[in-house]
Amino acid sequence: MVKVSHDEKILVVGAGAFGLSTALALRQRGFTNITIIDRYYPPVRDGSSNDISRMIRSDYNDPFYARLAKEAIALWKSDIYSPHFHQSGFLLTSEVANDPHLEKTKDVLRSQSQTFREFSSTEEIRRTIPGLKDLQDPLNGYFNPSSGWADAAGANKAVADRLSDLGVSFITGPRGTMHSLIIDSKSQVTGVNVVSGDPLRASKVILATGAWTNRYLDLEYTIVGSAQPVGFIQLTPDEAQRLADNPVAINMTSAVFFFPPSPDNILKVAYHGHGFEVEDSSDGKQGRTVSAPQRDSDNAASSYLPDDADKYLRAGLRKFVPSVAERPWTRGRLCWYTETPTGDFIADYHQSVAGLFIATGGSGHGFKFLPVLGQYIADCFEGTASAEVQRKWQLPSPTRTKQKIVVNDGSRRGPPRRMLDGLQQAKL
Ligand SMILES: Cc1cc2nc3c(=O)[nH]c(=O)nc-3n(C[C@H](O)[C@H](O)[C@H](O)COP(=O)(O)OP(=O)(O)OC[C@H]3O[C@@H](n4cnc5c(N)ncnc54)[C@H](O)[C@@H]3O)c2cc1C
Ligand SMILES: *[C@@H]1O[C@H](CO)[C@@H](O)[C@H](O)[C@H]1NC(C)=O
Ligand SMILES: *[C@@H]1O[C@H](CO)[C@@H](O)[C@H](O)[C@H]1NC(C)=O
Repeated sequence: MVKVSHDEKILVVGAGAFGLSTALALRQRGFTNITIIDRYYPPVRDGSSNDISRMIRSDYNDPFYARLAKEAIALWKSDIYSPHFHQSGFLLTSEVANDPHLEKTKDVLRSQSQTFREFSSTEEIRRTIPGLKDLQDPLNGYFNPSSGWADAAGANKAVADRLSDLGVSFITGPRGTMHSLIIDSKSQVTGVNVVSGDPLRASKVILATGAWTNRYLDLEYTIVGSAQPVGFIQLTPDEAQRLADNPVAINMTSAVFFFPPSPDNILKVAYHGHGFEVEDSSDGKQGRTVSAPQRDSDNAASSYLPDDADKYLRAGLRKFVPSVAERPWTRGRLCWYTETPTGDFIADYHQSVAGLFIATGGSGHGFKFLPVLGQYIADCFEGTASAEVQRKWQLPSPTRTKQKIVVNDGSRRGPPRRMLDGLQQAKL
């Protein structure tokens, strides 16, 4: 078991959901010397944890995450989180009768005594949810009233502000941008080199760099960054009013999902698919190419959506809310998932670098756990996690051969992951 004393200098790299929640849990446990660095101050403008909305659902076919999400949702209603949580409910639909994914998810909910309402026809959904009165196609599904969504940007900022209040330091900009890990001759991490200024020293480094991680540490055998398209449409106040009472809704056959309008009347649509890869061979990775967002520029600045993604999102929108489906995007975004083969997170020490702890692998579903995630990660960090958590979130041993990582958690739909071509990558 790793013994970590409360006055050790701990450097958290990455101020997304993983880094922030871990830092908060450690601070609350009495760790006194924590510094967080990031490229930008949270909410990090192009971080995966930052958006106008993230789904907060306990609907999982894996009882482990369903339980964790139930715990998280209880906390979303309290403290610094509650102003950012909207309990709109979540509508899961499918074209397939007795869709195995939905059946399994319902079983898990039942086993946790969670209540939900089943729908056997589209007509019934249209009648019950006025904002979906134009819903197309034969669908069945269920509605979970306890799920909803959160303003991710607001929640990140709230956690960062709480950390500042508790005396945790933030360093951002070039001085807070890690260039590389510093590993001494005894394979012990001693800090990080940053893009500007002297190295930052620490006896423990928590690498919570999300989709960027493979840039700094070769974990390509078990994580890969995938860019996921998101579209935003500005609604008029009247249009927004008509959709205001909508739940978050997903078509599990296509994995297209959309949110009720945000407070400034923006409709957001995305799909839980396999996304896109890029091939980047820039700076100091010893000839490796990685699929990761750029380090030195704002990955959210471009509004570019690949044509196929654009079409897929539109097609989804036409079926759900045809009245606004032809409106041009106000903005598009490719947001990065950090994929693992099973969809399980990683919260574990590196096998061969002492003092280096990895906290990532959100696999497109990590944000909802913000209020509890750090507690579980801190348990892994302190060596006190349950056997189940340790097993689920362990860093697998390296494999010699590079394999394509295909997420296999049963929740993804749509076309297989593909590489963006050179022209497309130039638009990012
Ligand atoms: C389109 C999309 C939709 C999603 N929908 C949902 C949802 O509905 N519900 C849900 O629960 N989850 C959802 N997720 C997943 C969830 O957002 C992620 O699992 C979670 O936010 C990942 O957090 P993170 O801290 O690992 O990554 P990030 O938030 O990306 O944090 C990593 C940080 O590391 C920093 N960093 C990188 N390199 C360096 C460096 N060299 N030096 C310093 N800092 C560095 C980055 O700037 C970044 O801030 C979605 C994700 C996406 C992309
Ligand atoms: C944190 O640790 C560093 C390195 O050991 C030390 O120089 C510094 O004074 C410590 N800061 C606090 C607030 O304890
Ligand atoms: C659901 O997705 C399937 C598969 O893409 C599609 O054929 C169907 O039209 C979609 N229905 C709705 C309501 O989104």
